Amino acid sequence: MKIELENNKVFLKNQGQKKEIHPFWLRERVNGESFLDKRTQQRLFDPTKLEENIMINSLNLSDQFLEVTFNDSTYAKFLILDIIREFENENEIEKIEKIEWDSSLKNFVNFKFEENFFNKEVMYNALINFYKFGFVIFKEVPTKDNFIVNFANSIGSIRRTNFGECFEVKSKPNPNDLAYTPLALAPHTDNPYRNPVPCIQLLHCIENEVTGGLSTLVDGYTVTEKLKKDYSDYYKILTEVKVRFQFIDQTVILEDWAEMIQVNEKRKFKQVRFSPRLDFVPLIEKNQLELFYLARKKISELYNSEQYRIEFRLNPGDLLMMDNYRLLHGRTSYDTNQGSRFLQGCYIDYDSTEGKLKHLKRKLNL
Ligand SMILES: [Fe+2]
Repeated sequence: MKIELENNKVFLKNQGQKKEIHPFWLRERVNGESFLDKRTQQRLFDPTKLEENIMINSLNLSDQFLEVTFNDSTYAKFLILDIIREFENENEIEKIEKIEWDSSLKNFVNFKFEENFFNKEVMYNALINFYKFGFVIFKEVPTKDNFIVNFANSIGSIRRTNFGECFEVKSKPNPNDLAYTPLALAPHTDNPYRNPVPCIQLLHCIENEVTGGLSTLVDGYTVTEKLKKDYSDYYKILTEVKVRFQFIDQTVILEDWAEMIQVNEKRKFKQVRFSPRLDFVPLIEKNQLELFYLARKKISELYNSEQYRIEFRLNPGDLLMMDNYRLLHGRTSYDTNQGSRFLQGCYIDYDSTEGKLKHLKRKLNL
């Protein structure tokens, strides 16, 4: 990609194609100190108030810089690299390649909590790992005084739900969710009925005296890619039909309609939703429903297959951070007579992890 000039116009040349850059696009990026606040990188003027017929009066191009004077007498000196970066228009996070994994994933890297943890390179590395695998485990995280809230707010901001700022996972009488019983929980994603669905779940083990209650994870991304490859008609219908997900208790009714596999505008993986206790399939044509039910059965088989599941024990101090758009989680059953099992959980959204990762990269020059 490179910048070229011709007849007082600026062009971007990319893979044999040459496109003119609109003068207004450059004008609204004028970066002198009376136009842009250096500290916040926020504009000090409103570009919607500019004349529409902005034109270029003169140009100068060197190795690193493009200098422009506009017909309203403003001048700007742009770093060419900045312009090229804007044209790539790619979020840095999207460049981190997801690693597909299944039950053969062993010895994944854990990250030990330490002083000033949230401002160190170890946190940056943990976040990269999170984006690659969809989860990361932190060890020796303090377990006193709801430290998970502090932990979440040190990455970004906690996402409160009707279960509270953080919730306690232990068996209790009259539970409003099966999570609060000692029963096994099949792989599922959390809160598919919420709009938007919380992006990331944190689960912190405070006490664990039982031999069961193992945590389970499945990579929804790996399973989706498998389905796409081997059962394309199933994949297609699961990306098309919007299912109603619902949660009802004494104080609230939450509903949302969404596909079980959601793709982004580039038709690439975005999110899975799977919670067979909470989904209501719409009344569509009978043969479409027939295909949908086969597809749902197949994806359920894959999600529940040992081939894709990892199981591990969370010990006191362990904090599991997982992508609720990508992974399914669950647990094996346990016996309450053996002792206590107590986890605390909360949610954060992608802006927290993305913001932290980009900040650490800038701060530490990584
Ligand atoms: Fe859950």
